[in-house]
Amino acid sequence: MPLPLSADLSSRHTRVRRTLDVLNLDALVITNTTNIRYLSNHAGSAGILVVTADAMHLLIDFRYEEAARTLQASSSACPSLRTWPVPASYDEALLSCLTEIGATRVGFEAAHVTVARHDWLVRSAAARGQGMTFRSTERVVEALRVVKDAAETAMLRESAGRLTKVASTAVRAVRAGVTERAVAAVIEAAMREAGYERQAFDTIVASGPNAALPHYRAGDRILEAGDVVVLDFGGVLDGYCCDLTRTVSVGTPTADALRVHQAVRDAQQAAIAAVRPGVAASAVDAAARTVLEARGLGQAFGHGTGHGLGLDVHEEPRVTRPQPDVQPTLLEAGMVFTVEPGAYLPGWGGVRIEDDVLVTENGCEVLTSVPYDLLPLTH
Ligand code: GLY
Ligand code: MN
Ligand code: MN
Repeated sequence: MPLPLSADLSSRHTRVRRTLDVLNLDALVITNTTNIRYLSNHAGSAGILVVTADAMHLLIDFRYEEAARTLQASSSACPSLRTWPVPASYDEALLSCLTEIGATRVGFEAAHVTVARHDWLVRSAAARGQGMTFRSTERVVEALRVVKDAAETAMLRESAGRLTKVASTAVRAVRAGVTERAVAAVIEAAMREAGYERQAFDTIVASGPNAALPHYRAGDRILEAGDVVVLDFGGVLDGYCCDLTRTVSVGTPTADALRVHQAVRDAQQAAIAAVRPGVAASAVDAAARTVLEARGLGQAFGHGTGHGLGLDVHEEPRVTRPQPDVQPTLLEAGMVFTVEPGAYLPGWGGVRIEDDVLVTENGCEVLTSVPYDLLPLTH
């Protein structure tokens, strides 16, 4: 898949620049590397982007200069880009850039700047004596990223779609006598084979009682007949993350496994059916929770129903119970998130089922396409 084109970036720039006006800023300093990528296509692991009304100033060191030149010669070049070398310290280079462009009202991303870094910038700017002030901003770029544009939707669809084949390999790797880590290794090799550049998170293979731990990873437990096994994995394709969970049985599923699995699947279907524009994200959570409560599994579902997916594997919107003092998130067409209810019973195990959905004008499109059976594996 190609990177977003210059025209895609232009419309992102228009929206971020509106915030400069609203917040009365000369410049907004972006230090979060994911946000830098979203606005510029530059995907280095270091860098600073300074957004102003007429330019995108990218501060990068020698390691990324050649990649930046290549990108700028392509159809995915960042419009109005001006690159600034960073000979030594990024923050020294930032102050020099801000001074040279005459920015005095400077916003920074409060969630992505350490207190130490903030203090240094304020002290060093004061020492320059040019009246530069640093103002805290929240969620400026994240608020744009929550609704995906067409380029992102295409990438997320492709990223999620490639999990079909990986999941088939994953399910076939589950058998008595192998360790959780061996199953995880098969899944991770299948993700590479499918073309993902990396894993979106540490693969989870949680068997038997370990399946009661929602964020277990994969250990040396050997799978046994009758185990329920939670398989949770996802990859990153051209920067965009996918995330899938299926729960399977080693051999013939027990009656308890079938009952809990059916309850979680029904909860997930209810949640997916609730997804449409204008609905509160918390209503999607409530749809899943209501089903599990009715089956006596309300206490066993202790996490939220889903999270946004995009350049980060956990981003907005959060699909959770209503949070005190937090404005409810209303779903909009173009949002992409997981729907992943679960039930966790300490000592017994657990079940989670997770798919990725795109909110459409009338409801949603499920981007992942993998069978749901609690498979009675016979091999
Ligand atoms: N594996 C992390 C998640 O599903 O959110
Ligand atoms: Mn997951
Ligand atoms: Mn997830």
